[in-house]
This record gives sequence, structure tokens and C-alpha cells, in this order.
Amino acid sequence: MEVQETAYNPMPRIGDQAPDFTAMTTKGPIKFSEFARDKWVLLFSHPADFTPVCTTEMSGFATRKAEFEELNTELIGLSIDSVHAHLGWVNNVREKTGVYFDFPIIADIDMKVAKLYGMLQPNESETAAVRAVFFIDPSKKIRLIMYYPLNVGRNMDEILRALKALQYSDKHGVAMPLNWQPGDKVIIPPPKTLDEMEQRLQDTSCERVEFYLCKKELS
Ligand code: BEZ
Repeated sequence: MEVQETAYNPMPRIGDQAPDFTAMTTKGPIKFSEFARDKWVLLFSHPADFTPVCTTEMSGFATRKAEFEELNTELIGLSIDSVHAHLGWVNNVREKTGVYFDFPIIADIDMKVAKLYGMLQPNESETAAVRAVFFIDPSKKIRLIMYYPLNVGRNMDEILRALKALQYSDKHGVAMPLNWQPGDKVIIPPPKTLDEMEQRLQDTSCERVEFYLCKKELS
């Protein structure tokens, strides 16, 4: 299929510095590089206010906000809607369900931020952001990116699990196996030399499948 010319920025990638921007939000104007200093940030987009899947997702972020706070993580949402629409939706959801979206939501009416972060994927929609989640560490480096289409809601347990895994990996210098959950064994870095390989083959302190796949319980 012919590739269409677009005026979109290259997609940000894992390991990139999070692109900086200024924006209006439901909590006032922000400059992203100054937002949530020394904290992790989850920057997430939704396609549109007053839509059903988005309402469930934003409610999911809101009801689990305390868990994100425990992980030193600030939430910030985005859609291509005005602040007035955001305020109306926030109030409507609170009136109907009691859930309050108590985190800033960017009013990206000119699509500036959505384009900067590859949230506007024109073959999915020209006017609505896809469901993206950017996991950004305290040095403002992008560490994990999720993109979901318009018709599939994200999984809040997986978002929290992935955030915990990133933080645990940073703290302990280990990697996480398939389906890792906090408390599970972790993967210790594989040997890089023959000497290290020989040592690992004698190591009885880890669960060894092979010298390059060893799991360990961390207390
Ligand atoms: C929704 O949130 O329900 C939705 C939004 C845009 C397109 C499709 C579904």
C-alpha cells in the first residue's frame, strides 16, 4: 500500500527524552519539563470526552490514583478536546458515578502534543488520539510505550504491573520474566564472559535453567 505523506513528527521511542511542550490542562497551564519534577509520569491519551470506553478508562486511572502516588508517579491525561469539554465531562462523571478525575487532563485542541507523541495515528483516526500510555521516568526519559486502538480499553492492572517492573528493575538491576508480578522471582543479568559463565554454572544460589537464564528471589 502506498505510504501517505504526513506532517507528523517521528514517533517518540523507548529511551528518548520525552519531548517538551506547554499546554493548557484542567489544572491550569503546564510546561511538561517542569511537571512532576523528580517523579515518574504516566502521560496517557484517550480519543474523546463523553465516550464510553474512555469514561471507563479515565475512571480506572482515577480510582487507582493512590496506587500510582505510592509509586511516586503523577498522572496526566490528554485528548483533542477543549478545557470546557473536559470540565463538563469530569463533572458529569462525578455526578453520575462519584468518580472524580483529580489529575490534569491536557486540552490538546490544536493536536500539538498528540502529534509530538505519535498519539494521532491517521490510519486509525485523523481527529482523535489513540489510547497511548507513555511511562516517563524522573529524568524525563521514555521507558515504556503502549498504544491501543480506539475500540479496545487498556488494562489498569497491566499498567501498574509494568510500572512496578520498571521501578524494580532500576532498583535491583534485574529483568522480569513473562507475567512477572511483585514478589515473583526475577531474572539476574546473564554472564558476559566465559569466566562469568563458569561462575554462573557453579552458582547454587539461583534457580538455573541454563547459564543465561537464572532466576532469583529477592527479599
Ligand atoms: C469510546 O471511548 O468509547 C470510543 C471513543 C472513540 C471511538 C470509539 C470508542
